[in-house]
Amino acid sequence: MRILETRDLKKYYGNGDIQVKALDGVNLSIEEGEFAAVVGTSGSGKSTLLHMLGGLDYATGGTVTVAGKKIFELNENELTIFRRRQIGFIFQSYNLVPILSVYENIVLPLELDGRSVDEGFVKDIVHTLGLENKLDNLPGQLSGGQQQRVAIARALVTKPAIILADEPTGNLDSRTTQEVLGLLKLTGEQFHQTIVMITHNEALAQLCDRVIHIEDGRIVEDHSGKDRTNRSDQPAERNASGKAASMMNTKKPTSAGRDGEVRL
Ligand SMILES: Nc1ncnc2c1ncn2[C@@H]1O[C@H](COP(=O)(O)OP(=O)(O)OP(=O)(O)O)[C@@H](O)[C@H]1O
Ligand SMILES: [Mg+2]
Repeated sequence: MRILETRDLKKYYGNGDIQVKALDGVNLSIEEGEFAAVVGTSGSGKSTLLHMLGGLDYATGGTVTVAGKKIFELNENELTIFRRRQIGFIFQSYNLVPILSVYENIVLPLELDGRSVDEGFVKDIVHTLGLENKLDNLPGQLSGGQQQRVAIARALVTKPAIILADEPTGNLDSRTTQEVLGLLKLTGEQFHQTIVMITHNEALAQLCDRVIHIEDGRIVEDHSGKDRTNRSDQPAERNASGKAASMMNTKKPTSAGRDGEVRL
């Protein structure tokens, strides 16, 4: 099932001579359960794309459809609620609430939405991420990798349509990066969670089902796991079905967005 689709998505900043076409006609489809990486050089439009996919900002043109909903047709309040329910964000800087415990951070999106906590599901997530012994700790008492695991749990807890992650391991050393990415991949599979992750690290991208290359605000390559040599030009539909033949068991998550933004 197609969980996310963009059509001729554009985001321009500024006007006239100083106008930047951060996204310039992006056509993208993501299938349910897919773990896709977005790669590209600095300034190519990766974060802008993630912001558009997650409804953190309105586009200049085109559409984004998430779980059947054209998100730019929603007003700001509706979009905030939609985001809280349907989008999970993981940021490079974790963005946990420092005065809340690990458990409180994990269930915060549910509390903000007035939803009851599915304790069994939280327990499953916490177990998979190895956080059982940290639930009463404050974020400041955790390592970076542990904090990012809490952020992954928080993103999963609402069972969103999609998780968006912008350089989620950007602040972690290489061993912790592998561990966290592996856990992100594992939880994605276990909970059948669709994930789009930005990374500038090609090696990490290769652990995903699909690698989408972006340059100057356009998708220039789109390789699925089964056929990494395939080059697809226009509508960047995934070109083969299924997930990449089980790629390594390494782990690491992703996060998205400009640092400092917490919008649950
Ligand atoms: N709020 C903004 N106002 C003006 N220009 C912006 C804004 N946000 C992004 N841009 C510009 O849009 C382009 C794409 O930026 P974006 O942050 O999406 O790049 P990126 O691929 O995420 O880069 P990086 O790898 O460095 O994070 C850049 O030229 C950037 O300067
Ligand atoms: Mg960026």
